[in-house]
Amino acid sequence: MSLKLRPATPEDIPVLQHWDSQPHVIAATGSDAPPDWAEDIGLSGPAFRTLIGEHGGRPVGVVQIIDPAEEPTHYWGDCEPDQRAIDIWIGEPDCLGQGLGTQMMTLAIERCFAAPEVTAILIDPLATNTDAQRFYRRLGFEVVGPRRFGDDNCTVMRLTRAGWVGRALSGQ
Ligand SMILES: CC(C)(COP(=O)(O)OP(=O)(O)OC[C@H]1O[C@@H](n2cnc3c(N)ncnc32)[C@H](O)[C@@H]1OP(=O)(O)O)[C@@H](O)C(=O)NCCC(=O)NCCS
Repeated sequence: MSLKLRPATPEDIPVLQHWDSQPHVIAATGSDAPPDWAEDIGLSGPAFRTLIGEHGGRPVGVVQIIDPAEEPTHYWGDCEPDQRAIDIWIGEPDCLGQGLGTQMMTLAIERCFAAPEVTAILIDPLATNTDAQRFYRRLGFEVVGPRRFGDDNCTVMRLTRAGWVGRALSGQ
């Protein structure tokens, strides 16, 4: 069964809110309040995209891709231009650990680097979320260092275009 990414719509809000209440999502979210999905979907544009991962037509997770220098919430503070930042989670607990996150993340990374000006992708897992950090490392992300976002201690990781291309060339 194939996995695809499609833009989130207001019809997805109930399932997104259902995922927000799942213990594995809460554990990965830290002190941030759950997203205001109506607002996030309303912000959809070149600098802020919310995409649903569908596996065989069933929504299984969500990925947000932002331009950290341009997106309106300015979550990342002042940033270099031509980067992207990604947030991802599998919402359905029975879909964890089956390779769907890897497929979603691969599609999201390919989308980011399809824009020729994009040099690197940033992510900010909680410092305690070592499972997610292992998942990102396997995709080629490298640790930049610790950073505090609000009340949360995070580990910033980065994937450069060269890192992604090199990984593809080495057949990983
Ligand atoms: C991180 C996440 C997107 C990975 O997607 P996935 O479909 O579960 O992952 P895959 O099956 O492609 O790869 C498995 C790897 O994911 C990682 N992983 C992270 N959280 C996991 C979880 N709750 N359950 C299973 N695997 C998890 C592990 O590194 C695992 O590899 P391992 O076998 O060495 O433990 C997904 O597990 C998830 O949504 N976790 C909870 C929310 C979260 O941590 N999001 C990231 C916030 S920065």
